[in-house]
Amino acid sequence: MGLGKKFIGLLAIVLVVGCTQSDGQQEQQQKKDWALALHGGAGAISEDRPDSVKQAYFDDLDEALTIGEDILSNGGSAEDAVEKVINYMEDNPRFNAGKGAVFTHDGEHELDAAFMIGNTREAGAVTGVKTVKNPITLARKVMETSEHVMFATEGAERYADKVGVERVDQDYFYTESRYKALQRALEQEKEDDGKQSSLVPYEDKTALYADGEKFGTVGCVAVDKNGQIVAGTSTGGMTNKKFGRVGDVPIIGSGTYASDLVAVSMTGWGEKIMRAVSGHTVSAYMKYKPATLEEAGDYLLQDVLNPGEAGMIAVDKYGNIYMDMNTNGMFRGSSDSEGNREVAIWD
Ligand code: GLY
Repeated sequence: MGLGKKFIGLLAIVLVVGCTQSDGQQEQQQKKDWALALHGGAGAISEDRPDSVKQAYFDDLDEALTIGEDILSNGGSAEDAVEKVINYMEDNPRFNAGKGAVFTHDGEHELDAAFMIGNTREAGAVTGVKTVKNPITLARKVMETSEHVMFATEGAERYADKVGVERVDQDYFYTESRYKALQRALEQEKEDDGKQSSLVPYEDKTALYADGEKFGTVGCVAVDKNGQIVAGTSTGGMTNKKFGRVGDVPIIGSGTYASDLVAVSMTGWGEKIMRAVSGHTVSAYMKYKPATLEEAGDYLLQDVLNPGEAGMIAVDKYGNIYMDMNTNGMFRGSSDSEGNREVAIWD
């Protein structure tokens, strides 16, 4: 990032005391030193699994949260917290991003990611990458080092080489449970005369998803002590997605968005999230209604999107956190400088 941009970021308020409007009421709010939220996907998350399986997910969410807390509580930046939290989830096969990415219709892996700083409106995104180990790191590099916002497929991979972001073989992304999910989806598609299917149950008793991994994605949002508001999201997309399909995650304003008010990361059915321009809708609703983060999040999930479609995490410039979904669950966690901390999966 250039010095000018850093300067603007630093100017963006060490201590913000400001006003938000809700239903015409002015509320005084003091900015928290820092705040952070993360998700590891939303959807129909099976509850009938052994406690040991459930505990493994809670432990991983806890570990991811700790990585972000350590960075922010030691004065680190929201950019670093978001990237490192997502890197951990990308490297963890339990989540549909990086190592645990689902299979496409052609039996490959095509990954998407986006990164955005709200205060400066800088953004970077990559789509359809097949050999980048940590797509969120590449998205951040695109934001910091290129004049463009989004790189696709082989071009993005060339850019990874140019900026020194690690590449791996497709085999790196293989996991047996994702492979079985694709086989089930393909069988179902045949039974349904070619109607695309990714929403198929498969009975992997060692995992918590039972819906064909349609809704997995990972994301993180944070505000740091300098007031920088950052959003990042990374995904393998959806099982059995067709050649070249792009989901909501790398579309700035849809699955990933940050403004000077709020940072948003979505998870769920990409096509639905895109059509609602979800991230930007939340920010615009807050600004123009005007509304609080909670009102804007509820508006998106309850009034715009339909039940069963999505989950959302967001943090506003004061450090208020929103985590909710219109599915039965979302892998999630949040923490702030005032000692509030939560790790949860179901309602
Ligand atoms: N929400 C992830 C995707 O649909 O690609």
